[in-house]
Amino acid sequence: MKDVDATDFRPAERIEQLGVSEILAIGARAAELRASGRDIITLGAGEPDFDTPDHIKQAAWEAMQRGETKYTALTGTAALKKAIAGKFARENGLDYRPSEIIACAGAKQVIFNAMMATLNPGDEVIIPTPYWVTYSDIVELCGGTPVLVPCAADQGFRLSAAQLREAITPRTRWLMLNSPSNPSGAAYAAEHLRPLIDVLLEAPDVWLMVDDMYEHIVYDGFRHATPAAMEPAIRPRTLTINGVSKAYAMTGWRLGYGGGPEALIKAMSVIQSQSTSAACSISQAATIAALEGPQEFLAERAEAFRARRDLVVAALEAVPGLACRTPEGAFYAFAECGGVLGRQTPDGRRLESDREFCAWLMETADVAVVPGTAFGLPGYFRVSYATDVETLRTAMARIADACATLA
Ligand SMILES: Cc1ncc(COP(=O)(O)O)c(C=O)c1O
Repeated sequence: MKDVDATDFRPAERIEQLGVSEILAIGARAAELRASGRDIITLGAGEPDFDTPDHIKQAAWEAMQRGETKYTALTGTAALKKAIAGKFARENGLDYRPSEIIACAGAKQVIFNAMMATLNPGDEVIIPTPYWVTYSDIVELCGGTPVLVPCAADQGFRLSAAQLREAITPRTRWLMLNSPSNPSGAAYAAEHLRPLIDVLLEAPDVWLMVDDMYEHIVYDGFRHATPAAMEPAIRPRTLTINGVSKAYAMTGWRLGYGGGPEALIKAMSVIQSQSTSAACSISQAATIAALEGPQEFLAERAEAFRARRDLVVAALEAVPGLACRTPEGAFYAFAECGGVLGRQTPDGRRLESDREFCAWLMETADVAVVPGTAFGLPGYFRVSYATDVETLRTAMARIADACATLA
């Protein structure tokens, strides 16, 4: 038998459509520079720097002690579904029965299950841009066609009703909405959602996927709203997604969930049955503690993020050539860099794109940020401020100093 080497590897065609994640590539370059002795600050993280609260860890330990270490029901334990239903009712005014709820290995798997369960080749999914890269990649993996609708800073990074109406075709299967958004931090208040819901009411074949993952990380009294609670007529075709990764600092536990019509949840569970079988039993127990335990720290953590947001936005706004809209939530700032493009670096290079600008910042200012192009919207860059204030101050000073050298 001949040895298998890299040249024998033949990826599936579906893999070839997907690029290597630019965010991962940037992380890898940062790690390389760090290994060579450089003090690179990475502002790319998609997870809180806080730890999972102790009472949640304790609940996981107790679940193990009780022997909850076996396969669970496919869509989640009865106790977890009760906790999720309680959360939806208490925080969102949404009434979901257990058969309308699915728990998965992260919200990412909720999205994956939903798209696998519903998309046929050529089906279109409308994705307001900038978007979390996972959305378009999952749609493509499932044979669908992402329809990217640019929503720039001057429209608050929010999709308008007119844009939605124009993007809908007979092939449209879903609209994906994310509020607050990764990467823009923009959020849709009820007044922004209402016109979109009205358009969807005129388009009965279009389903709505709402990703509320950053619901608890909002600032300045912003009131989070979610469409299925706002409009009973849209609920039967809405999948409301949430999870414990961001609010409860539980990214590694891999637990996300969705609420939606029973037929959809059932179809999603068929996909889940042949991928992960169920979410981790211990993470399910921990999530019950997260959802039913003390909630006060959520506001405290959001307040810590707000202070960091203010620091970052003010620092970026003060740099000639950069501009940064104040985000309503999440822990990302999505800044415009159009004003520095076309300018020259001290070594005579002209910065032509957001990608070149970000690569240059990494090489010369030792700060890693992600170009807007990676999220479908060139001319911007994303700063994750899920890191401590001192590090953020240093990073912002480095960006300002570097930009001051541009001619
Ligand atoms: C908008 C959004 N939704 C969902 C997720 C993923 O959540 P989970 O860790 O539950 O898969 C992320 C993570 O970056 C995200 O940014």
